Amino acid sequence: MNYPAVIKWSGSKRLVAKQLSQYFSNCETYYEPFVGGGAMMPFAKTNKGVASDIIPELINLWNAIKTNPKLVADEYQSRWEDLQEKGQEVYYQIRDNFNQNKNCFDFLFLTRTCVNGLIRYNKQGEFNNSFHLSRPGINPDTLRSQLVLWSKIVKKFVFYNIDYRECLLDVKSGDFVFLDPPYGGTKDRYTRVEFDLNNFYNELERLNTVGAKWLLTFDGTAGKREYNYVPPKEIYKHKFTINTGNSAFTKVMNSKKDTIKESVYMNFNPIHIQANLFQKTFDEITVCV
Ligand SMILES: C[S@@+](CC[C@H](N)C(=O)[O-])C[C@H]1O[C@@H](n2cnc3c(N)ncnc32)[C@H](O)[C@@H]1O
Repeated sequence: MNYPAVIKWSGSKRLVAKQLSQYFSNCETYYEPFVGGGAMMPFAKTNKGVASDIIPELINLWNAIKTNPKLVADEYQSRWEDLQEKGQEVYYQIRDNFNQNKNCFDFLFLTRTCVNGLIRYNKQGEFNNSFHLSRPGINPDTLRSQLVLWSKIVKKFVFYNIDYRECLLDVKSGDFVFLDPPYGGTKDRYTRVEFDLNNFYNELERLNTVGAKWLLTFDGTAGKREYNYVPPKEIYKHKFTINTGNSAFTKVMNSKKDTIKESVYMNFNPIHIQANLFQKTFDEITVCV
């Protein structure tokens, strides 16, 4: 099944979620420490999930979707109706409010009506993207049904607004971790600091010693540009490439025509790949390391 995005997120894995999920294992607890728009959450193969992100309003929104989807839908609808009636001034008013109070319903509205759905903050931590003139924002009834669906999906998740390393502290053998961090060398849109790859590799090594399984979507190429931050070979066991189409690179580099490819790393060998079961899903199956 393909799930609609309830929270639009640049860098979302939505377009490849189903294919990627074929590499997911049954586990005790599923961890997603860079949850963003959470495209992989519906595919967790367990009934216990832990998800986190560094952006507080995003985690507040996930918690609201989990506990009260009707309220979220009502909040969106009232803002959307205002927008249809009064025009783009409503967007800028809501953006100002959001920058004062970080209200998660304002945040949802902005993600649905800003240019290309791109969540962008300035150095002062203020949301600064403009109104998408040619788009009215998703219809409230459509969003309402998506919210109800996602509320059920995320019921088994606990959400935290913490750094990924804190989220992973309790990971143990038998758990599964899906990692979709920001690209190395790029500044995080929220924290405005570069993602530290050495710390990240240390964390992957720690997960290896704990005995948990992990799958990481990481470096890649956009057209002729290469973003190769290949993790040390000793850390992972299997690697392949996927076409992620209009993923984060496209948004970041504003290069819609480029083919976007990302590398996927795993610290275990998927048995089904050895049996060639996925040949039709990924045309670029790969190198076993
Ligand atoms: C590529 S996005 C994840 C997209 C997600 N897989 C999806 O399908 O929508 C990376 C996320 O990591 C978050 N992030 C960045 N640095 C982080 C950190 N140190 N700890 C936790 N989350 C972080 C960002 O806020 C962003 O939402």
